[in-house]
Amino acid sequence: MIRKIIEKGDSILEKKCHAITKFDDKLHILLDDMGATLKSSGGVGLAAPQVGICRRVVVLHNEAEEKIELVNPEIVSSSGEQTGLEGCLSLPGYYGEITRPMQVRVKAQDRNGNWFEVEDTGLTARCFCHELAHLDGHMFDELCDKLYTLEEIQEMFESAAADGRAEAEAKREA
Ligand code: NI
Repeated sequence: MIRKIIEKGDSILEKKCHAITKFDDKLHILLDDMGATLKSSGGVGLAAPQVGICRRVVVLHNEAEEKIELVNPEIVSSSGEQTGLEGCLSLPGYYGEITRPMQVRVKAQDRNGNWFEVEDTGLTARCFCHELAHLDGHMFDELCDKLYTLEEIQEMFESAAADGRAEAEAKREA
């Protein structure tokens, strides 16, 4: 079932979420629904508070389009740095330039409670940081001075392209 995505301004997005202790059908339905909601949204990551559930659960897609489910996730190590545009399904239409680690390793439980670790770089590393921050009530716009609209971003790309800089690339994020 596709769930409604909560937008900025709702206090649930500012709360510290509770750990999952029961790996039961209720959790599996939440994970399935979050997967369906993420897929239909076109975003790359979704945290449970974004569908109104104050629990430490995240679903995201890595750059190979594989779905990763994270229950009670924690960042165990990170390295390097990347600066790029970031957006959020709970703040549609706005993007900010955010610096995040280039490489992030996360420890989490799967839907059955088994601990595992996953490490990734680039956009997925950025997504780990963004989604895990949601679980502590934080959103990306706290980390940037200015938000840009899609129109402003497009203008930036056009001028970047005119400068011959093909590197700039917008990524929608949850
Ligand atoms: Ni988000």
